[in-house]
Amino acid sequence: MWGGRFAAGPSAIMREINASIPFDKALWRQDIAASKAHVGMLGAQGIVSAEDAAVIAGGLDAVAAEYEANGVPENWDLEDIHMTTESRLAELVGPVAGRLHTARSRNDQVATDFRLWVRDAMDQAEAGLRDLQVALVGRASEHADSIMPGFTHLQTAQPVTLGHHLMAYYEMAQRDRSRFAAARTRINQCPLGAAALAGTGFPIDRFRTAEALGFERPTDNSLDSVSDRDFAIDYLMAAAQCSLHLSRLAEEFIIWASQPFGFVTLPDSLSTGSSIMPQKKNPDAAELVRGHSGRIVGCLTALMITMKGLPLAYSKDMQDDKPPVFEAASLLALSIAAMTGMVAEATFRTPRMRAAAELGYATATDLADWLVRQANIPFREAHHITGSAVKLAESRGVALDALPLADLQAIDARIDDRVYSALSVEASVAARASHGGTAPAEVRKRVTQARIALGLEE
Ligand code: ARG
Repeated sequence: MWGGRFAAGPSAIMREINASIPFDKALWRQDIAASKAHVGMLGAQGIVSAEDAAVIAGGLDAVAAEYEANGVPENWDLEDIHMTTESRLAELVGPVAGRLHTARSRNDQVATDFRLWVRDAMDQAEAGLRDLQVALVGRASEHADSIMPGFTHLQTAQPVTLGHHLMAYYEMAQRDRSRFAAARTRINQCPLGAAALAGTGFPIDRFRTAEALGFERPTDNSLDSVSDRDFAIDYLMAAAQCSLHLSRLAEEFIIWASQPFGFVTLPDSLSTGSSIMPQKKNPDAAELVRGHSGRIVGCLTALMITMKGLPLAYSKDMQDDKPPVFEAASLLALSIAAMTGMVAEATFRTPRMRAAAELGYATATDLADWLVRQANIPFREAHHITGSAVKLAESRGVALDALPLADLQAIDARIDDRVYSALSVEASVAARASHGGTAPAEVRKRVTQARIALGLEE
C-alpha cells in the first residue's frame, strides 16, 4: 500500500511488530460501515463518479459477507483491518477500489471505527447494568423486611434490611450507567474527514458522513480528531469504576457464602466444586469478578500511560489502544452477567442473618437514642450508659433485651420498661425512617422509585 517510496520490504520483525490485524479485525463491521458512509459521500459530492461509488459500495458488501461467513483473514503483510479490507476489495472489484481512500487516511479511519466500536460497548454496558438493577430491585423488594446485621469495619454495627443492602448496589449501578451515558455524549462526534492530520483539499461533506454513522456532528479540529483517545479512556474509566462496584458486590457474596457467616447459598450454576474436598462449593464466579476488576483497572492504566507522552497528531503507539479496550469490554460484560445471575438466583438464608443481627448488640445505638429521647440525656452520656449495659450483657452472654429491668436501672435509674420496645431488631430498623434510611417503608419507597425509573411500573 505504501511500496512506492521503499526499495526493500520490511523485516520479519517489522512485519510482526507492526501487525494489528490479529486484534483489530474485531473492528471489521465498523470499518465496512465507515467506508460505505465515506464512499457514499464521495459519490454524492462528485469526488468519485456515481458508478464507481456504487461498485465500491457493492464490493464492500461482498467483503462483509465473506467476513461474516469465514472470518477475517490474518495476513501480517496487510497490517491491519483497513488494508485487509481494501486489498480484498481490490481483488473483487479491480482498480476502482483505489478510489475509496480518496480524502481519507487510516488515521481518521481508525479513529472513526474505534469510536463506533466503543460507542456500542458503552451501550452494552448500560444495558447489562440495567439488567443487574432489575435483579437487585426484585430481590430488594422481596427482602425489604429481612433483617441482617449492618457492618462497619466488618463488625456488627446496627441492624439493617437485606433489601436496603441490595439497593445500595442499585445506586452504584445507577451512577455507573450515568457515567457510560455521559461518556456516550462525548464520544458521539465523527472524526472521519480529518484525513491524516490536517483535513483535506477535496470538497468533502463531513456532516453527511457523521450523520450516516449515527454521530451527532463532525469533530471540530483535525489534529485533535486523529490523536484523541479520550473516548476510549472515558469508557475504561467508567468500566473501571463499575468493576470496582462489581468486585465489592462479589466480595459480599464470598463473605456471606462462607460457613461462619452462612448468609447465602450460591446458585449451583455459578459455583464450582473441589476435586479433593467433596463438601466444597466454591464461589469461583464471584472471585473471578473480584479478580477481573484488577485486570480492568490495569487496562485503564495501560491506555492512560500509552497516551500520556504523545505529541500531536497520530503516533503508532496509538495502535496499542485497542487490546486493553477489547479486553476490558469482554471482562466487564462477563462480570456484569455473572453478578446479575448471582443476585437473581442466590438463596438468602434470612433466619441466619436475623440471628446474627441479634447477636452483636446491634441495637445498642437504639438504647442510647431511647435515653436521649425518653430521658432527655445528652447523647454522649447516653452512649456511656449504653456501653455499661453492653458490657454487662456481654459478661452474661445475653442480648441487651435479655437484661432484667432491675439491672438496667442499676446502671441508670432513668431507664424504665418502655425501653424494651426499642431494643428489638425490628424496632431498630423501623425507627430508621429518615430519607434513605433502612426502615422497610423507606426501602419500599426507593424500590418503587427504582421500578418506575426502570420502566417496570408506571
Ligand atoms: N492500524 C493502525 C492503528 O490502529 C491504523 C492507523 C495507521 N496509521 C498510520 N499512519 N500508520 O493505529
